[in-house]
Amino acid sequence: MKELLEPGLGSVRVFVKHDDNKARKLKYNLGHPRVLTFGGAHSNHIRAVAAAGRRHGFETIGVIRGEERLPLNPSLAYAVSRGMTLTYLDRATYRRKHTPEVLAGLRERWGDVAILPEGGSNAEAVRGCAELPGEIAEEYDVICCPVGTGGTLAGISAGLPPGRTALGFAVLKGAGFLADEVARLQREAYGRVWPNWSIDLGYHFGGYARSTPALEAFAAGHGVEGIYVAKMLYGVLDRARQGFFRDGARVVAVITGLPFPLGDPDVVAGQAVTPVTS
Ligand SMILES: Cc1ncc(COP(=O)(O)O)c(C=O)c1O
Repeated sequence: MKELLEPGLGSVRVFVKHDDNKARKLKYNLGHPRVLTFGGAHSNHIRAVAAAGRRHGFETIGVIRGEERLPLNPSLAYAVSRGMTLTYLDRATYRRKHTPEVLAGLRERWGDVAILPEGGSNAEAVRGCAELPGEIAEEYDVICCPVGTGGTLAGISAGLPPGRTALGFAVLKGAGFLADEVARLQREAYGRVWPNWSIDLGYHFGGYARSTPALEAFAAGHGVEGIYVAKMLYGVLDRARQGFFRDGARVVAVITGLPFPLGDPDVVAGQAVTPVTS
């Protein structure tokens, strides 16, 4: 882990750990020959599932929010290049995507599929993410991560040794519901909820996929790629300066991935996405 040497932190020490939450969320979800999942047109999760399908040899279907737009953006073009079949749901139906009626319609159309929720956050994903804390050899008190759908935070919290806490930073606006979601995911995975986590709602910067000049400047100044991570790291440093963490606390900020195409192992940054022939 690398320590961030920043002014104004006092005795609090902040470390960054690079760790791709998408791979952890998928680890225990693999095994079905056909996987269907959901996401927006720029979804990191959609690409991660498409890449995993290609790598492990299962079929993938991506249910994308909104209308089809051609040509496909680079993110969806990448998913298709990895063999994913795309289908679209209008925004109103997409909001109800996890309801029994919409799921039944999808099963009718796509047959025998394993359905992964948006963001990949289910019980298996939580169990995958719970392995992260055990892989940190250094001393720490708090682990921080971005929160989109809640699976990453739910897992990190469940995997924490006694006496440590997890702090998530919501990347969406009006994300009060996320606490219920994290609790639900922990219950689904383990039948209990841990008391060692909380969610900071103060760093959404206008909402999901939104940014501000201040956040852009922060990201550029800190060499941070990706909006989820930028919001979290901004929040961690800001809260540290405000005295939110106890004196001498050692805080780990998890860098949960790089933006497309940098974070995708089988894409060379800066190169056009071309279909893989196998
Ligand atoms: C880079 C990155 N960080 C954090 C998250 C948030 O994770 P979660 O949806 O498990 O809360 C995501 C979404 O999957 C992501 O792509």
